[in-house]
Amino acid sequence: MKHILAAIVTVLALGAMFMVYQSDNEVHKLSKITKMIKKSQVKVNLGNTTPMIQETKSLNSDSSEAITKEQNQKKKELDEKLQALKNKAGNMAAFEVSSLYKQKCASCHGVNGEGIIGPKLIGDSSEKIYQDLTDFKSGKRKNYVMYGLLSKMDDGQLKSLSDEIGLFAQKLKEYEQQ
Ligand code: HEC
Repeated sequence: MKHILAAIVTVLALGAMFMVYQSDNEVHKLSKITKMIKKSQVKVNLGNTTPMIQETKSLNSDSSEAITKEQNQKKKELDEKLQALKNKAGNMAAFEVSSLYKQKCASCHGVNGEGIIGPKLIGDSSEKIYQDLTDFKSGKRKNYVMYGLLSKMDDGQLKSLSDEIGLFAQKLKEYEQQ
């Protein structure tokens, strides 16, 4: 009987020890979890440092913006130079034109009728030009700019301008054959 009791007590004691061990384990696990949580907090902190990284990134984009600005500036300068060259080339007449054409028409239609703001005139016949001009002047063909210009001109001027422009293509050909 004593032996049996002793055995039971031993089992109980073992059981208790086991439970203690288990709860110990639990505590161990808990501490592990807290450690994990702490680690994750470190991660969160790391997450908080990303704005710093973003800041450096935005710094980078600032400098790249500056670079693109610089590039744009260079491109603008180049474009301006090109435009100046084009204007120079555009102002270099292949053939002489009347001072009336130069003063009244060249600014929009080009020194040799090649067209700028106004359409290209070179290659059109005298008859077509004269028809256009009289249509603009009479208002049959509506264009404010052309009407304003031509209303101050007499028919003789329209005729001579038409005759002149009608010969532009021929003049250019002659120039190119020189
Ligand atoms: C301020 C700019 C400007 C000036 C200066 C100017 N023109 Fe024009 N011209 C235009 C524009 C823009 C048109 C196109 C109008 C349209 O199609 O409605 C045009 C159209 C024409 C046309 C018709 C061309 C086509 O094929 O349809 C003729 C011809 C013409 N102009 C001749 C002249 C003559 C000649 C002079 C000088 C007396 C002159 N222009 C001065 C702007 C101008």
